[in-house]
Amino acid sequence: MKEFLEIVSEEMKQAFEKAGYPAEYGKVNVSNRPDLCELQCNGAMALTKQFKKAPIMIANAVAEVLADSKVFSRVEAVMPGFLNCDIAPEFLASYLQQMEEADKFGLEKPEKIKKIVIDYGGPNVAKPLHVGHLRSAVIGESVKRIARYMGHDVTGDIHMGDWGLQMGLIITELQERKPELVYFDDTYTGEYPKEAPFTISELEEIYPTASGKSKEDPAYKEKAMEATKKLQNGVRGYRALWNHIIAVSVSDLKKNYNNLNVHFDLWNGESTVHDIIPGMVDYMKKEGYAHESDGALVVDVKEDTDTKEIPPCMILKSDGASLYNTTDLATLMMRRKEIDPDQVIYVVDKRQALYFEQVFRCARKTKIVRDDLDLVFLGFGTVNGKDGHAFKTREGGVMRLENLISQINEKMFEKITENHEVEEQEARQTAKTVALAAIKYGDLSNQASKDYIFDIDRFTSFEGDTGPYILYTIVRIKSILNKYVQAGGNLEEANIKVPVNKDEKDLMMVIGRFPAMVRNAYEELAPHKICAYIYEMANAFNHFYHETKILTEEDADKKAGYIALLKLTKEILETCIDLLGFDAPERM
Ligand code: ARG
Repeated sequence: MKEFLEIVSEEMKQAFEKAGYPAEYGKVNVSNRPDLCELQCNGAMALTKQFKKAPIMIANAVAEVLADSKVFSRVEAVMPGFLNCDIAPEFLASYLQQMEEADKFGLEKPEKIKKIVIDYGGPNVAKPLHVGHLRSAVIGESVKRIARYMGHDVTGDIHMGDWGLQMGLIITELQERKPELVYFDDTYTGEYPKEAPFTISELEEIYPTASGKSKEDPAYKEKAMEATKKLQNGVRGYRALWNHIIAVSVSDLKKNYNNLNVHFDLWNGESTVHDIIPGMVDYMKKEGYAHESDGALVVDVKEDTDTKEIPPCMILKSDGASLYNTTDLATLMMRRKEIDPDQVIYVVDKRQALYFEQVFRCARKTKIVRDDLDLVFLGFGTVNGKDGHAFKTREGGVMRLENLISQINEKMFEKITENHEVEEQEARQTAKTVALAAIKYGDLSNQASKDYIFDIDRFTSFEGDTGPYILYTIVRIKSILNKYVQAGGNLEEANIKVPVNKDEKDLMMVIGRFPAMVRNAYEELAPHKICAYIYEMANAFNHFYHETKILTEEDADKKAGYIALLKLTKEILETCIDLLGFDAPERM
């Protein structure tokens, strides 16, 4: 189905042509002066030079052609040469009727279905998730859903940090604490225990301890590096221990990501590509891409046009160990072999921009990726506290994601039970649903690349540009529809009618923009556009609701028209919040 503004612009373009002007100047946009008109076209202004005419004359001529247009109910030329237009209510209604019937409200299928990999989440095993991990998970999940809704073939990969020095550190600390463990006995040949010799909370405490010690004690660090190598070289006991670390950690991560309604298709990690690294390194050496520099193996990636220094991409450290780079490059090789994507999108902290620039250049230069692979870095800004500095706990420590979420759950629970009687269990469940919307909407409504302030009071408010406000609007519509059905109404039989009042028409105009809005959010990888859209829609709906008798409307036909409009509004809002990665409760 053609997009709303496309059809409208076509009508305008034809009029330009009929009046003797080039059609392409007839592009119509939503008015930025809604008090004056619904839509506007500024094309006449751009034609003055070429035609040596005052723009108002051009605009007048075009307006005349459109005097009995079926698309516009009004086209008015105003000084100095704008075309102010209103849409014909009948045309708007028929467009919405088609949207209602069409798949995905008329969203066009892509010309070419792209294979897209989204690399997001990026947690490090054995380390608790903190607020810093929130954005990658929340933005990545939404981008994944948007791309999938558009019709593309999308794979979400968590790309865990599960390899390298962090693992060596944990193993070293375990050995200090429990040297008697069979994993450290070189002579042991039997099977290793199924049960891990630690719990997730021990694990989460071990890592920071080990990391702290290694910074102070060079001998300790030496040991950790040695352990890392032993692990990478496949020493049995170390691998067995590592498997335990992964298993314990992954089951905890799954629980946490589930709570965030974030779901990965692939649970790969840096370790997944370990075995393909030697082959990749050989290839890069043999083809002359990689060379030695101070004992390390590097690929130069600077280009003549660079305005800033782009350091070489390091493939192996001087001790032969692989790095973060190495695994990212090998992961691209693996993805090519197993998925052969057209695009890979990395949703990572924007402070890693330079790093990814190096990795992308290196991948292209060494031809480990397809020439036409589109590599995209979607960098996000920092989550700050109200003081403008990185978000911290009250004590000044790093805020664990789990704690942040339960704090907001608690706050939501208080709000929900404040004014009315709700059963405890239901209130807890609702609080969880609304809290998640508060967190995700609070994050996603900001442009990803910008830092934002995590303001719990604002995010959890039922008013303003917030997740709870959107949910509240959906719940309100659900309740009206339920009442309609209880009173004997049939939702399936209700059809969109020609709008009879301004608020109704305004809401319909917002609805009509849905397909173009989703396409735009996808093209710009910008979930915040969906947030802005549903905020506008919720406002338009609430205006309409406050100004219109709906259930008490006596004219049954008119009432059914309102109901159909409500139903469509609800379906689009629900689709949008699903694209953002949260849902609405039945009541709140
Ligand atoms: N684990 C990394 C970190 O905590 C993020 C991973 C990002 N993805 C990637 N392919 N490098 O910084």
